[in-house]
Amino acid sequence: MKIIDSTLKPQFASIFDVEAIRAEFPILKLQVENKPLVYLDNAASSQMPQPVIDRLVRYQTSQHANINRGVHYLSETATAEYEDSRRKLQRFINAGEDREVIFTSGTTDSINLVMHGYGRKFIGVGDEIILTTLEHHSNIVPWQMLAEEKGAKIRVVPINDAGELLIDEYEGLFNERTKFVGVLHVSNALGTINPIKQMIAFAHARGVPVLIDGAQAAPHMRVDVQDLDCDFYTFSGHKMCGPTGIGILYGKAELLERMQPFKGGGDMIMSVTFEKTTYNSIPHKFEAGTPPIAAAIGLGAAVDYLSAIGMDAIAAYELELLNYATEQMSHMPGVRIIGTAPMKTAVVSFEVKGVHPHDIGTLLNQEGVAVRTGHHCVQPVMLRLKVPATTRASFAFYNTMAEVDTFIAGIRTVQKFFT
Ligand code: ALA
Repeated sequence: MKIIDSTLKPQFASIFDVEAIRAEFPILKLQVENKPLVYLDNAASSQMPQPVIDRLVRYQTSQHANINRGVHYLSETATAEYEDSRRKLQRFINAGEDREVIFTSGTTDSINLVMHGYGRKFIGVGDEIILTTLEHHSNIVPWQMLAEEKGAKIRVVPINDAGELLIDEYEGLFNERTKFVGVLHVSNALGTINPIKQMIAFAHARGVPVLIDGAQAAPHMRVDVQDLDCDFYTFSGHKMCGPTGIGILYGKAELLERMQPFKGGGDMIMSVTFEKTTYNSIPHKFEAGTPPIAAAIGLGAAVDYLSAIGMDAIAAYELELLNYATEQMSHMPGVRIIGTAPMKTAVVSFEVKGVHPHDIGTLLNQEGVAVRTGHHCVQPVMLRLKVPATTRASFAFYNTMAEVDTFIAGIRTVQKFFT
């Protein structure tokens, strides 16, 4: 088993004040099955710290009204806070302009926006879209719908047994019909960190735009969309200490301006007559109807919270958690880690010989340990790696080495139960 080389100082974990951080997450004090909760399902959804909860309460109790629709105090306050949150997100990903940040309901919504707004306008019969085997269903199904509608074709980048993209194969898929690339930054099921900067540069040299699904990256590492030079980047608030129902789509202004709107309705228009509607400027062109104002402001508070800890510190600490768990699991007879790329975030998918993942999840729950079991919305990955399902532990910066120990002890309990 290959363990990621850590460039960290030894025992970084001892200087990362995880207990102080944990004290800010009320839900982490829960008991489950009379045991302390060990929450290792962060790739599905993370937990919310008190400052984000407080921000939501402050908004609802003293700032709420509809935005962009009134001259009264509360409407102007809510509008200013909503736009302030957009600027926080802009800074968080180092976007060049705040109008390049569109609030959506999350990653799935963002990808559907790009499919409808860009794909339906610029991709036609015989054109090709490159995706990868690692994609979440949300970055497959919208493109299949488009391909079916337009007579376009989807080409798929294969992976090796470790769960890494085969970059030579990726490069070999390009031809004059290639019109779009969609790739995830980090695999939700395996944790693989993809070489997206290199992949983007290769696509751009052939004039092909690239969408990055960053749902599993933005909560765990520093993202700089200008450095990556991606055309689109998207993530969801609820995986990064924010509320559900909110996320963002970053898009280069020049592309967003050329795209057609996804949803029609209020606020996305400049003028409406029954003869013709003209659209608002970006980002408003893509934010039809009353948006999830509270959630957008909550997401702003969440990125403030993460930034205060520091994304580099978060990445470094989570890498220690990963290495600690991987090291122990790789010596456990009957346990096989699925996804062993050298570059990974803190996700460990695994099998326990002779035990169905749902039984593992159920027994771990009896120890207070929350993990996800199943196909993780990546059935093509399961098919390629010849596993029907896995159990997945996914860590966050508020998890501890002691929780890793509880998790490992839980796997031993599962094995004892089934022998
Ligand atoms: N995509 C989320 C996960 O990996 C829900 O669990």
